[in-house]
Amino acid sequence: MEKINKIAVLTSGGDSPGMNVAIRAVVRNAAYSGLKCDGIYRGFQGLIENEFIELGARDVKNTINRGGTFLKSARSKDFMTKEGRQKAFKNLKSRNIDALVVIGGDGTFTGASIFSKEFDMPIIGIPGTIDNDINGTDYTIGYDTALNTVVEAIDKIRDTASSHDRLFLVEVMGRDAGDIALNSGIGAGAEEILIPEENLGIDRLIESLDKSRKTGKTSSIVVVSEGDQIGKNIAEVAESIESSLLGYEVKVTVLGHIQRGGSPSCFDRVLASRLGVGAVDALLEGQSNIMVGIEHKKIVYVPFETAINIKKILDTDLLRVADIVST
Ligand code: F6P
Repeated sequence: MEKINKIAVLTSGGDSPGMNVAIRAVVRNAAYSGLKCDGIYRGFQGLIENEFIELGARDVKNTINRGGTFLKSARSKDFMTKEGRQKAFKNLKSRNIDALVVIGGDGTFTGASIFSKEFDMPIIGIPGTIDNDINGTDYTIGYDTALNTVVEAIDKIRDTASSHDRLFLVEVMGRDAGDIALNSGIGAGAEEILIPEENLGIDRLIESLDKSRKTGKTSSIVVVSEGDQIGKNIAEVAESIESSLLGYEVKVTVLGHIQRGGSPSCFDRVLASRLGVGAVDALLEGQSNIMVGIEHKKIVYVPFETAINIKKILDTDLLRVADIVST
């Protein structure tokens, strides 16, 4: 195993609250362990375009409470090409960088895994995405903050839904995973939660809303994951409901990117600190091509392949709880 003297850190893909905290923890564990550390701007794209900055312990002050990522993020098409990755490797070598820490989601880990094998470069991944859709870790950085943002927004929607006896469809993020929808739906007291992992059909949804109305509910909240398969899109679902449940006014709110911003919650700050420290520890132990995750409160090392290629199992008990508490 080659001795590691200098590392670099980048954030890639969709940003998430707490990414700054993870960068801070990587930089500070590097300083603590006697390693030099560079930051790379704009993810893999900045790596290809040689956008580096030296980072010492003091350079990450006052970042713990800031949303987004001060290193900026990008989804790099060039890194998908061999030529792009060759440039990236050349840039790392010219700065004597021995290992890389990448913070992002499955796309980031896919790129990192290819690069690590191609150039025999030690890489450690830290799961940062609001979607919580990475296998091998109970939580990803930013998920808890996003849940709190969604619940706060739905609480406000509930006020006006109730005043006007309306039904609101609220779309939340999560392309392929229903974690945000399911957990925020329970937390915000939604009547129905539509997720990509389970499509029970529009007829069942309408029947259930009708039943709720007959038991005395005058307004309802339906949380819809953006990856939900029930209709072509949320507007189509709204139209189907409105034409079947006569007299029920249906409104649509798409929460969108507000879910990706904001100061990270304490949970995300602690998680990001632990994973950032864990990533540098892993490099010093000679690990490579793995993600640092958290399972049952303990730090775990998960091969990139396991994190990327195996679908995270949905907690079906949550579906049952959601059903019961929305009765
Ligand atoms: O992967 C995180 C995520 O926020 C998804 O939930 C969402 O579908 C996507 O990113 C949106 O990406 P963009 O910011 O590029 O539109």
